[in-house]
Parts: sequence; C-alpha cells; structure tokens
Amino acid sequence: MEVNCIFFILLLFFLFIISHSDYSSPSTQTLESESESIISRFQQYLQINTSHPNPNYSQAADFILTQAKTLALESETLEFAPGKPLLLLKWPGKNPNLPSILLNSHTDVVPAEDHKWSHPPFGAHIDINGDIYARGAQDMKCVGLQYLEAIRILKGSGFEPDRTVYLSFVPDEEIGGHDGAGPFAESQRFERMNVGIVLDEGLASVNENYRVFFAERCPWWLVIRAFGAPGHGSKLYDNSAMENLMKSIESVRRFRAVQFDKVKAGLKAEGEVVSVNMVFLKAGTPSPTGFVMNLQPSEAVAGFDIRVPPNVDEESLEKRIAEEWAPSSRNMTFELGQFKQKVPVHDMFGRPVLTASDSSNPWWTLLEGAVKKAGGKLNKPEIFPASTDARYFRERGLPAIGFSPMTNTPILLHDHNEFLNQAEYLKGIMMYESIIEAYASYVEQAVVEDSKDEL
Ligand SMILES: *[C@@H]1O[C@H](CO)[C@@H](O)[C@H](O)[C@H]1NC(C)=O
Ligand SMILES: *[C@@H]1O[C@H](CO)[C@@H](O)[C@H](O)[C@H]1NC(C)=O
Ligand SMILES: *[C@@H]1O[C@H](CO)[C@@H](O)[C@H](O)[C@H]1NC(C)=O
Ligand SMILES: [Zn+2]
Repeated sequence: MEVNCIFFILLLFFLFIISHSDYSSPSTQTLESESESIISRFQQYLQINTSHPNPNYSQAADFILTQAKTLALESETLEFAPGKPLLLLKWPGKNPNLPSILLNSHTDVVPAEDHKWSHPPFGAHIDINGDIYARGAQDMKCVGLQYLEAIRILKGSGFEPDRTVYLSFVPDEEIGGHDGAGPFAESQRFERMNVGIVLDEGLASVNENYRVFFAERCPWWLVIRAFGAPGHGSKLYDNSAMENLMKSIESVRRFRAVQFDKVKAGLKAEGEVVSVNMVFLKAGTPSPTGFVMNLQPSEAVAGFDIRVPPNVDEESLEKRIAEEWAPSSRNMTFELGQFKQKVPVHDMFGRPVLTASDSSNPWWTLLEGAVKKAGGKLNKPEIFPASTDARYFRERGLPAIGFSPMTNTPILLHDHNEFLNQAEYLKGIMMYESIIEAYASYVEQAVVEDSKDEL
C-alpha cells in the first residue's frame, strides 16, 4: 500500500497530541507501518460479508474477538437470537461505581448490487485518492474499528480510564435491531453495566464540520384500507372503495406538502418535520391480461412510511389518522405498526425520546470540547431523519449521541460505491481518542444521572 504525504502528517499529528507522553517518539518508519496496519485492519473488517439477508456474523465475531484479545479487553458473546452474536467488550475503569460509557456499533450492512459498483463491495479497494470502497465503509464498520483503534492508542500511551468503557458490536441494526440492540437494551446484562452515556452512529458531513445527532424520527408504518360497494366501471356513484381511499390520499398529500414546504423554505431541517410517503397501493381485480377494467373494486389498500420527530404531539397525529386519513365514517380501517413499527415518541419515563444537546448535559459539553481539542468542529445538532439503534437506549431514558466522524465526504450509506477516505478515517480515530479520553476521565456525577435517580 502506498502511504501518501497527507496521511503521514495526520498520523504524526495524532500520535503527538497524546497528552501522556511516556510514549517514545516514533520514527517515520514506525509511523508508516503503523498507519498501514490501521488501514489494513479496517480493510479486513470491510472484507467480511455481513450483508443481509445472510450476514456472516461468525466471521465478524471472530475478527472482533481477535482485536479484543490484542488489546487485552475483556469480552463476552451474548446471543438474543441463535446465530446472531452480540459482542460486548470491556475496558474496566479505576472507579467501577461510576456510570459506564457504551460505544455501540452494528456489524451488519445492507446488501450491495455488485455489478453497479466500480470496485467490488467486499473488496475494500483503495484508489489513487486514498478512498476505500466497501459496503460498510461509512455505515458503520468505520466507527466500530475507530473505537478500537482509539483504545489501542490510548492504551499505548498508558492512559487508564476512570469510568469503565464498554463496546457493543450488535447484529441486525439494518433490519430493525429486534434481535440485537433492542433486547440488549432491555436485558439484565445491560442493566448491570450501569451505562451513563451511549455513542452510536451518525452521518457523513459534506462540509468541514462533523454532524451530530441528539434524537431521531420514530417510524410509524401505516396501512389504510377502504371498503365500498363494487360496481360497473362505467357507473358514477358515491362511496366506492377507490373513491373513499382517494379522499384519504388527497388529505395525506396536503399534509405532506405542508411539511415538505417547511423544509424547502429552509424553516425546518429534514429531521424536524413529519414525513409521509406512500409506499404501496393495492387494489383492482386481477385478470389473465392484467386487471379487469370495467369493474370498480370493493376494497383498496395503501401503505405509508411515516417518520415522526420526538417533539411532535403524538395524540393529535393519531387523531388525524383516525379521523381524516382512515375514518370509519368513510368505511375505512387502519393498522399502525403491524410490522412492529410504531415507535413511541416518549421514553419509559414519559419524556420525549431525545438527548439534551446543550450545557444541561455534561456529556454534550464534553463531546464538543473533545472534538475541538482534536482539531474538529461540530455542526448544529440534528434529528436523525431515519432510525438507528440509539433509540433503544434513549427509550431507556439514557442519553445517546449519534456521531460518525466523517467530514468532506459524500453521504453514501446504502448507496452504490460507498467509500471513506483513509485520511478521514485516521482523523476520525483522533476524534474518538479525544472523546474516549474525556468521557472516561470525567468523574463528576452527571446531572442527567441525578435526575434519573429521582424518577
Ligand atoms: C454476500 O452475502 C450475501 C448474502 O447475505 C450474498 O447474496 C452476496 O452474494 C455475498 N457477496 C459476496 C461478494 O460474496
Ligand atoms: C463465513 O465465513 C467463514 C470464513 O470465511 C466461512 O468459513 C463460512 O463458511 C462463512 N459462513 C457462511 C454462512 O457463509
Ligand atoms: C359504508 O358502508 C355502508 C354499508 O355497506 C354503506 O351503506 C355506506 O354508504 C358506506 N358509507 C361510506 C361513506 O362509504
Ligand atoms: Zn448504520
């Protein structure tokens, strides 16, 4: 592998900012080979095919366990569903009574259409610009290994955490986390970990500042069904199923336009409005050549993917669905969350599922400071437009921050040709080194923990 200049400067920088300098000044050659090993480990992880529908979880688990061993971290394999290992690694703190830090990442990736990629999605090819191509390069094998590389550097420098640091490598995030982070967050094992703060994934940023997420929209999957008298295709009459459904679709469309206009006008970010998109329409009477054309059917169904920000009035949205989008007065019924997807907008304490992103949350302040110290800057905190495993932790009332350190990078998660530049990857390790050091040395009792105790 060629190691370019930029690469070097970066590595020099990140080895030198280590504040505890019993680390002897490394030679240029050491640095070169060190950076090569870091990138090569990332490639190895990316080359493991953990794509759905059949992720090779055992190979990923073996790889992570090998890494854990070289770092002398304690490890445990939990299984909430057979064949779906969740790896829990532990770096014990000097003060195990303090709430711990959990660094979460998922090991699975979404499928890739090989032939539409310029480099094979599980090849981890590095091009002339230093861009590493692989499914999972951004979402989120980068983060999982960056945590470990940051710990490697911190350990190498002699740093000892006050708080215990846990790392969870979870399966199945891409299919909802129902056999991964979901049951994990509800388990007794998790309870015993006494977690105080969770870090999980974010998104790449196209500018020079990092993006950071304090909440996410909750998915509500809605299916509405209209019924009406069937009739000849030529007849005009009221209350056909199609007619009844169309009234609903018009109403949904108006609501959608109002929401989208706020985004278009720059008044709201994408994550701050309710999105509604029709994802299927099902009606008609099949015939050998397609559909019967001269018959108005007696039933028509439509499905919608709705995403609800945590600060939205849940009840009024439910009322809108029941009274405007699927009113029984129009002979309509609806199902919300038939695929386990009606995520509540309140946590187990009845508070909106979001993490404070101001000085009331010491973890927030620490994150800002740590990123700054490592030479980075954060964008204004955002609501994640889709779902991540972070919601399971927030639902437990825990603060969770979404952060995937990638600046100046196009957002390519789930897209063809997903890549991450190697210099950006190394810079991300620096960020985590700084963050983990700040979090693990923070010994004050956090305000959020106090308020939790009162409940
Ligand atoms: C990766 O695994 C998936 C099954 O989950 C499979 O369909 C795909 O062909 C595999 N890709 C490669 C390159 O082996
Ligand atoms: C997973 O990967 C290992 C190592 O490459 C291989 O031996 C095994 O057959 C794979 N399992 C599946 C289900 O593809
Ligand atoms: C609802 O169904 C009933 C019974 O089929 C029918 O009489 C009525 O007109 C329908 N109302 C609407 C609004 O479709
Ligand atoms: Zn992800």
